[in-house]
Order: sequence, then structure tokens, then C-alpha cells
Amino acid sequence: MAETAEMVNPLREGIRLRRTPDPCAMVIFGASGDLTERKLIPALFYLSRERMLPPGFAVVGCARTPKTDEQFSKEMSDGVKKFLHLTPESDAFVEGFAKGLHYVADDFSTPEAYQKLKETLDHLDQEHGTAGNRLFYLATPPSFFPVIVKHLGAAGLAKPKEPGKTWTRIILEKPFGRSLASARELNQIVTSIFDEDQVYRIDHYLGKETVQNLLVFRYANGIFEPFWNRRYIDHVQITVAEELGVENRGAYYEESGLLRDMIQNHVLQLLSLVAMEPPATFQATAVRDEKAKVMRALRPIAPERVSEFVVRGQYVEGFVGGKKVPAYRTEPKVSPTSNTETYAAFKFFIDNWRWADVPFYIRSGKRLAKRVSEISIQFRRVPHLLFKGAGAEGIEPNILSIRIQPNEGISLKFCAKLPGTTMQIRPVEMEFLYGESFGAAPPTAYETLLHDCMLGDATLFNRADAVDLSWELVDPILERWKEDGSTGLSQYAAGSWGPKEADDLIESDGRQWRRL
Ligand code: BG6
Repeated sequence: MAETAEMVNPLREGIRLRRTPDPCAMVIFGASGDLTERKLIPALFYLSRERMLPPGFAVVGCARTPKTDEQFSKEMSDGVKKFLHLTPESDAFVEGFAKGLHYVADDFSTPEAYQKLKETLDHLDQEHGTAGNRLFYLATPPSFFPVIVKHLGAAGLAKPKEPGKTWTRIILEKPFGRSLASARELNQIVTSIFDEDQVYRIDHYLGKETVQNLLVFRYANGIFEPFWNRRYIDHVQITVAEELGVENRGAYYEESGLLRDMIQNHVLQLLSLVAMEPPATFQATAVRDEKAKVMRALRPIAPERVSEFVVRGQYVEGFVGGKKVPAYRTEPKVSPTSNTETYAAFKFFIDNWRWADVPFYIRSGKRLAKRVSEISIQFRRVPHLLFKGAGAEGIEPNILSIRIQPNEGISLKFCAKLPGTTMQIRPVEMEFLYGESFGAAPPTAYETLLHDCMLGDATLFNRADAVDLSWELVDPILERWKEDGSTGLSQYAAGSWGPKEADDLIESDGRQWRRL
């Protein structure tokens, strides 16, 4: 549905009661990139429309391409209109918002650029009341992160302008490193210039409403947590499936692959939220401590056993949504002999008291049959079959599924008696749908996360130790795959549910992937 500027989302009313962030200037490095246009500026627009931005607020886009403030504002307001499908009545509001956008064109690998940026920021403090608070957002390719961070430090921009009175924070987009060594090196550079409490490592999955709702579901209800363990749970499945291919990101994806792009961050974050122990408070340190403990308890997969626990695949030509789509190897900027994985399925174990021997099956891929992300908790079968004969074959284990996207919601599958004189049993579902219960779309992940960062709340951001632990886990797998080359790289048709080997992975344990 097209939205108008006047439509204030009731779901956000509650949030609006929260603190309004301090006045600040947000600097976006990589302002001509896709992320800025598609996600960051639209998120800021929504925040502005919901009056959740401080009165003294300005955005400074930084990139090499020469552009005036007016050109940048125009491009961004066109982008907002395009990506948010707004009605023409909203145009004036969008243009009003875009007036607060500024632009600094320069080569950001030179010290001069940062002097220019500093002058702009000082000017905004005077003219737009941004009060000396700064939020730097690194939305560039990751290879630029060290350069920008070092220059910010050298220009004196990393420390608060007036210590004790103002704040300076930095958001780093994913991927945070491309291996354990590079993540550590980057971390070392970042934390030699910024204090850890200034650093916000973003993972937009943590900002998704359903992902946060997982915590509410587990810890604001008395009935689920007692069952949330190995005594009652047979296994957990996490699926993050996309219909999209690599689009125009072939060059990036060739360097990254699915493991780095999705598993090391988004999927492991989901897993740690499902598996973590209850934190003592909903404060950043407590929540992040518990998540890190899960990462520490994840059983490492030894290089020589990778093929027992992990399947990797790459899509070949196929049909998605009735449209023929090309093979990964023929996508733009992809090598015709590429061994990059576009799909992966895993079996993980968490070696702790709560989860011993409970498999966590995980799968994620591009060009799959459907865009759907779901966590499903599959409970153990009943211990004794009471309804032998006619009814027993209808008995299926209970499944609790948490739908992250689309159709955000939660459903519980249980058995019911089919009406009639005979005893026949069928699975039925109890369902909660966000859209129906609250009647409005939740805020986007970037809105939540940008707002949290402006408020200084790091609960939904990654901490260095968790990033490190996730790389410790995936590094040996990546190394093994590199050695193996094309050996063990399965193919799957675009538009399917992935390679057959992924079915074998779970079926050899007597279980099945959920049909989604
Ligand atoms: C990004 C990945 O982090 O997440 C993309 O780089 C992926 O490859 C995207 O498509 C998925 O995010 P969402 O929010 O659309 O599920």
C-alpha cells in the first residue's frame, strides 16, 4: 500500500514516548552507494516523519563524485519516493526532509577531505543546532573502513568535540572483516581510535521487529521458557531464503559468498537469540554477554569433517516466479568458473547444559523458491501413542514457527481431533500475525537501529567478541572449501529449495526440512 506523509504508524506511538535523541549530525561515507539510497535515507525519512529525529539534525553525505547539496538532496528525495512508493501528496514532506541533507565531495583517503568535513560539521553545529554530536556511518566497501577510521582519528574527529558534553559514535556496516585475521585487524584499528562504547557494528537482522519479538516471546511469557530446552525440543531449524540472485553485486559476492554474506552474521545472530540464556536485564552488556556465551558454546566444525556438517551449493539456470533466470556463473562480474557458494546448509550443535545433542539445522541461499525467513522449534514426539491404529498416523510433533519475513508472525502447530464419530487426528495451527493484530507495518530494521544508535543503545549491535567468535567458527570451513575448489560444490536449479545434498544432511538424521 502506498503511504502518505500524514499516515502516522500507531506501532511507533509507543516508541515515540521514548527519549528523543540528542541533536546530532549524521555523516554517511559511501553516500553515492546503494545502501544509502535504498536503506539509510528512507529510514531517516521515516524517522523524521514519525518525529523521532531530534530538532537539530543534519545529514552529511560523503563521497568522491562531485555534487552540490541540492543535487544530493534531489537524488535522495527521488530515491525515497521510488523505494517507499509514496503518494504524490507526500512530495512536499519528502522535499522538506531532503533540505536537511548536505554533501561533501572529496577523496576520503586524503587528510584534506577530513578538514573540509570538520568545517562542514562545525558550520552545521552553528547553523542547524547539531550541538557537536556526531554519528559516522561507514557504508563504503569494507576495504575503505581502516582508511576512514584512521583519518577520522588523525583529524581529531573520533573523540567527542567537547568531552563529557557531546558524543561521537561510529556505525560500521557489515561485513566486519572477511576472515578471523582481517576482522581482528580491523577491530584493532577501530578500537585503537574509538572506544568500544563508541563503536556500533550493525547487523540489520537484529533490528527486524520479529527478531526483537523473539526476546519478548521468550522472556515476557511464562509458558514457553520451561520448554525451551533439550528435554522438550527435538531440533531447531533456521531458514533464510531469498528469491533474489546477486543482482548487480556480482563483484562483491564473488569475494564474499553466502557464508560470509549471511551465515557469519545474520544467521548466527538469529541462532544466538534462539539459544541464549535469559539475560538479567535488557541492557546492552547483559544481552550481548548471553549471546556471546552461545557463540562460545557452538561446537566447532573440524576442517576434515566439514562435509559431514555442511553442504554448499551454487545455483544454475532455472525459473523464479515463472521467469527464467541465469546461472550464477553467468551473472555480471562473476567468473564463469566460479566456485563461490550461493547456498549453504549446516548442522550445528551447542555444547551446553540446555542444548546438548539438539541439532540446529540452518539453511540459507539465493535464488530459492521463495523469499522466507523462519525459525522453527520442533518439539519432541509424544512419548506414548495413545491413539493407536486409525488416529495415530495423524500425530505430528508440535512446531512453533517464528516467521521473520514476510507475513511476520508466530504460529504453533498442534494436533486436533477431526470432527466425526471416528478418532482421526489432524495437525492444525494457532496463528498470530503482526499485520492483523496491530494493524500496521512495523518500523524497518534500519530505522530501529539508527534511532538506537542516536540514543546510545548498543543492545542490538554486535560486540567485538561475538564477531570474533563467529569468524572462529566459519574460518576453518572457508579454508576447507578453498582447498576443495569445485569438489563438494553442489548445484541446484534457481527457483528450487537448494541441492539434494542439503536434504540428505537432515534426512540422514530421520528429520526433514520444513515445507515453507
Ligand atoms: C544483506 C546481504 O546483508 O542482507 C544481502 O548482503 C541479502 O545479500 C540481504 O540480500 C538480505 O536482507 P533482507 O533484510 O532483505 O532479508
